[in-house]
Amino acid sequence: MTIQTHPARPSAAHDDPAPGAAAPATPAALRIGGIELSSPVVLAPMAGITNTAFRRLCRDYGGGLYVTEMVTSRALVERSEKSMRIIHHEPYETPRSVQLYGVDPETMGQAVRMLVEEDRADHIDLNFGCPVPKVTRKGGGSALPWKTDLFEAIVTTVVREASRADIPVTVKLRKGIDADHLTYLDAGRIALRAGVAAMTLHGRTTADLYSGGRTGTRSPGSRSTWPARRAAVCQCWATATSSPRRTRRT
Ligand SMILES: Cc1cc2nc3c(=O)[nH]c(=O)nc-3n(C[C@H](O)[C@H](O)[C@H](O)COP(=O)(O)O)c2cc1C
Repeated sequence: MTIQTHPARPSAAHDDPAPGAAAPATPAALRIGGIELSSPVVLAPMAGITNTAFRRLCRDYGGGLYVTEMVTSRALVERSEKSMRIIHHEPYETPRSVQLYGVDPETMGQAVRMLVEEDRADHIDLNFGCPVPKVTRKGGGSALPWKTDLFEAIVTTVVREASRADIPVTVKLRKGIDADHLTYLDAGRIALRAGVAAMTLHGRTTADLYSGGRTGTRSPGSRSTWPARRAAVCQCWATATSSPRRTRRT
């Protein structure tokens, strides 16, 4: 699959080719499964921010990967109005990238089956990065990879369902629960074994929430211990965007 950007609106960021000139073939800057991206930029998924309008603004700057806001698998299976709005993509949005959250393998599988059967996504990202205490206290969000069996069941089920349409699956992880309970290496190996196409490492622990904590993380691309070396690796940057205080973070 090749990414297409929608017809560009006038912008200083674009250099128009001379009239009649053939567009130069751009080598893929990032490959995720069968998806080739002309730019290695991956927009950090942000609840309350990365909606259609925001993604459109970003897409004007080039063909990266623009993930939706997170949608929970239960709400999606129940076709809640909000979740249907979150996964909606305009025709120019390709590849369509949906971020899913859930703690139950069966419901996650149903949600992915729905996305596949209704042709609503080209890429699925699984969110295991949510540090909100309300969620992690019950073992969900960024605490979930600690339960390796459950983590494996979710990822394996999602990859199996998504593979029916050759849709690549990626996972987003934190380093762990805290400095004494790091999970990213085991989770990375499990995810790779399950067939994920790429992983995103948020270089903080659950305890770090959204600040500090980034020091001491092994760089995914430079240490042989990080299993994602064998898959494409993305890192997300969100601080370039404003983070409204009242927006729910995940
Ligand atoms: C307002 C806000 C909402 C976020 N929502 C999500 C989300 O829905 N899913 C997710 O995986 N990460 C979410 N994140 C985390 C970001 O994707 C990113 O990984 C994180 O902010 C780290 O980047 P930074 O250090 O540049 O802030 C959110 C972050 C912010 C600030």
